[in-house]
Amino acid sequence: MTTLVAVGAQWGDEGKGKLVDWLAPKAQLVVRFHGGNNAGHTLVVDGHTTVLHVVPAGVLNPGTINLIGPGVVVDPGELLIELEALKERGVLRDPSRVRVSGRAHVILPWHLALDKAREEKARDRAIGTTGRGIGPAYEDKVTRRGIRVADLLNPEDLRHQLDRLAEQKNFELVEFYNWKPIDVEALWEQAVEWGRQLEPYVDHTARTLDRGLRDGMNVLFEGAQGTFLDIDHGTYPYVTSSNCVAGAVCAGAGIGPTQIDRVLGITKAYTTRVGGGPFPTEEQGEFGERLREAGSEFGATTGRPRRCGGLDVVMLRESATVNGFTALAINKLDILSGIGELKIATGYKIDGKVRNDFPMTLGELERAEPVYETQPGWTEDITGCRTYESLPDNARAYVDRVEALVGVPVEIISVGPGRDETIARTDPFRPL
Ligand code: GDP
Ligand code: IMO
Ligand code: MG
Repeated sequence: MTTLVAVGAQWGDEGKGKLVDWLAPKAQLVVRFHGGNNAGHTLVVDGHTTVLHVVPAGVLNPGTINLIGPGVVVDPGELLIELEALKERGVLRDPSRVRVSGRAHVILPWHLALDKAREEKARDRAIGTTGRGIGPAYEDKVTRRGIRVADLLNPEDLRHQLDRLAEQKNFELVEFYNWKPIDVEALWEQAVEWGRQLEPYVDHTARTLDRGLRDGMNVLFEGAQGTFLDIDHGTYPYVTSSNCVAGAVCAGAGIGPTQIDRVLGITKAYTTRVGGGPFPTEEQGEFGERLREAGSEFGATTGRPRRCGGLDVVMLRESATVNGFTALAINKLDILSGIGELKIATGYKIDGKVRNDFPMTLGELERAEPVYETQPGWTEDITGCRTYESLPDNARAYVDRVEALVGVPVEIISVGPGRDETIARTDPFRPL
């Protein structure tokens, strides 16, 4: 039995979905533990692209059970659409392969409306959220008025819960944001229907996870977003509303810290960010545009162009610290082929002083000018490489340099979006 937590080391979209799908054949359980359908995880298998938002990326592997843990926020309508599409394709013949925690909180139409209304009102201070209601849903969870998946199965009590919530939510929507109220009667009918359709999937997932661990299963935990979008460790307030770091797996899935064996940090070979907030190595000129074109850097959830720039090891070192990475995966190395000399940020100049630690405040980060070292590039197409040794010398030198600068071994290198376009230097599920 081995447990492996896979999390994003940057601002999301590092290629977590691709790697979770690739790792899944070795795991019997794949578990999402935080976030919601703000995530967009892209899987390319035999030329067919699947984008998942809340269903774990183990689902294309027939041998896995996929758990949506209590730390996730679930938009029931969107989850049902995702499940239906998987069923139609014949990928999800057995519904018991997807289990949703009854304790996961539900994203309601109020949350979507408030997310949008707040962003509109914030104007130039907007976070650039995905508009999926994530922040407002977590807010209701923490203020202890949220509605959970299991509540959808109990229509009578649900009606009282919705009535209570409506008082506060519609007041805020109408009086503060000048938006239309949400009709509780219609919402209740809709929510009861969601409950009816979701019932076969609802589970006490922490218990299922515990049973799996006792039975000696390999378990893969699938992070969403990334370390710098984490509510505590990220570039606050330009973050999401959940903890994205590896430690969040304990509360979000229901597993003790003593049961985590390995933590895989996933990074791109360069850096991207979607939404607002500071980004020290952002390249707004031609180089950024080339990365965006070559890497097809457009959001999997909202289609927004992603901001692009060079690799930042100041960030990766901070990430390694707060997550306890035991290994790194470097994705999209193929995108750097033919791009010329490669810059790696190793420090920041802030107020005239060079530092190599990640700053504590947003103000310092906004003033940070990256200090770069350069690495020679390579021109060869590397998408066919399946071993580290077969990579061009300069591509290997780039990987080695990142490994040395971050101080964490690079165990996986991804050279294309396809499942098999992956180089593994060791088995991530090898026994300890
Ligand atoms: P996630 O949110 O971390 O799962 O990442 P996304 O799916 O949002 O974005 C990553 C994008 O890069 C997707 O379109 C993937 O298909 C693609 N991708 C992942 N790994 C590689 C790789 O090594 N090379 C290339 N060219 N594309 C990749
Ligand atoms: P995956 O799992 C990239 C960003 C949004 C915004 C901020 C807050 O695909 O890596 P939210 O809707 O969560 O309140 O938005 O977080 N964001 C992501 N960026 N990848 C994601 O998920 C993201 N999920 C949220 O763009 O800046
Ligand atoms: Mg994504």
